[in-house]
Amino acid sequence: MSLKNLFKTNIFRGIFILIIFLCYSICGTLATYLFKYAINDLTKGNWDRFVFWLVIDFIVSIFTVLTLPLGTFLFNKQVQECLHNIRSQIMRRYYNSGGYKVSEIQNELGNNLKVLTDDYATPWIQIWTNLLSLIFAIGTLITLHWSLILFVAVAAIIVLTLPKIMTKKLSNSTAAAAKKNAQFLNTIENWFSGLSELRRYSASGRLDRALGQDSRKLAEANVYRKKVQGISISINGLGNAIGQIGSSLFSGLLFFNHIITLGDWFITGSFASTIFNGLWEVINAMTQMRSTKKLRQEIADLTKSIPEKKPGTVVYGVECHNLKVQYQNGESISYPDFTINKGDKVLLSGDSGTGKSTLFKVLLGQLKPKTGEVYFTAQDGTKISPQQARLGYIAQDATLFPDTIANNITMFNSKLVSKLKEAVQKVQLVPDLAKFPNQINTTVDLDQGNLSGGQRQKVVLARAEIHDEPFLLLDEATSAVDSKSTSEIIGNLLDTDKTLLMIAHNFSPELKDKFDYQINLKSNKKSGNQNDN
Ligand SMILES: Nc1ncnc2c1ncn2[C@@H]1O[C@H](COP(=O)(O)OP(=O)(O)OP(=O)(O)O)[C@@H](O)[C@H]1O
Ligand SMILES: [Mg+2]
Repeated sequence: MSLKNLFKTNIFRGIFILIIFLCYSICGTLATYLFKYAINDLTKGNWDRFVFWLVIDFIVSIFTVLTLPLGTFLFNKQVQECLHNIRSQIMRRYYNSGGYKVSEIQNELGNNLKVLTDDYATPWIQIWTNLLSLIFAIGTLITLHWSLILFVAVAAIIVLTLPKIMTKKLSNSTAAAAKKNAQFLNTIENWFSGLSELRRYSASGRLDRALGQDSRKLAEANVYRKKVQGISISINGLGNAIGQIGSSLFSGLLFFNHIITLGDWFITGSFASTIFNGLWEVINAMTQMRSTKKLRQEIADLTKSIPEKKPGTVVYGVECHNLKVQYQNGESISYPDFTINKGDKVLLSGDSGTGKSTLFKVLLGQLKPKTGEVYFTAQDGTKISPQQARLGYIAQDATLFPDTIANNITMFNSKLVSKLKEAVQKVQLVPDLAKFPNQINTTVDLDQGNLSGGQRQKVVLARAEIHDEPFLLLDEATSAVDSKSTSEIIGNLLDTDKTLLMIAHNFSPELKDKFDYQINLKSNKKSGNQNDN
């Protein structure tokens, strides 16, 4: 968020807001200024004119009171629209790049945007209104006596210098609080996703400890942030108080020396307080805004658009040579060389932890191998890198969305609706759908879990079926489906001319025999502290 994109959200409204607050400041200044005439007429005993000025003053004050809520309302509307744009830019960014945790996204879209609203957007309007009032107040003081403005200028320099002491501390404390909030959300995500398991084993103590630790750290960071903010406000307030009292004393001196009238003295006090309060507010607002510098940089980086992922090239076969994967903890897995040609049906087997899912990550371009090469082949025989290849893929854990079963299968592509019937038949989902009153239009309830494990897998299989990619990677895609349906589903897949690489543990020997060949991974994992030359 920046002032520029806040303004550009709706330029017409932006200008209107500036004008409204300009009117607010003019009316506020006028209301104070006119009071001078009322006081001067009062001292002269001119009662009628005194009442006249009071009535005028009252009308101007009413106008002031009305413009403020209107301006504030429009400004909030502008801020909310700007936030809405930022949210969609951030979501697009997360969509186009990987490697983020859900809690991190929640923190950015929730807490961090709220901090930006409170500590960056709102202060802008404080700055604008106070600056205007300040300028008008200074202008008026000049018309009263030049020495008044000289005095105010000297006091103002002192008021302006004081807050610099706290700026860095404030920025660091805001960033630290944001970080602790992210950690807290991460812990909530990690532990609450397994809440029912914790309940089953009465492990509430561990949950308390996990959340308690991070909650305490977050509380401490927030307390510290408020403390630093408080000290900063006190320092600024001190300068403000000294300035106000000083100028009242100084203008009193001018009055007793018959340089200004009583009415002038009265309004000098008011204008001095407008100036110093205004300065105070502007400085507080600026300090508050500076405290969001790191956060704004973070959000600005997230709203920068990155190139959308291109759809990729359809591929039919793959070759892997000399492939070795190394994780950050140093653990490495070596793979045998293999070639899968167009139409091959290959079963990838091996004990748990031998690296089957890891191999898929490499083929999908999500994991870069330490050595070796992987290339896919396109229709015309050209070599395609994993990043550019377009594959059908079913992960070990089926991912569903809180939408209808139909939309979960078509993935919101209305052009595929006509193929739904055939797809659900091929994956043996028809008898399952019959159990739901809304059949294929049943909404998947991710919280209550209205679909069984096998049904979820069938929905994801139907998704792969309907999207009809010629090369399919299936990671234990039928592990929760009964053996009869499994052999039907796999039988259907084996009957197609698709290229198939499938990980499965518990296939019957008859089913295994239907594949062209098997790649069997043996444990050759090397731990990080071993020399793996
Ligand atoms: N991010 C990671 N960091 C470190 N090691 C990892 C990571 N992901 C997986 N591993 C390790 O790599 C090995 C292979 O994991 P992988 O998930 O590929 O096994 P798998 O053959 O698919 O097993 P399963 O049949 O149980 O699904 C395991 O020993 C695992 O501990
Ligand atoms: Mg696996």
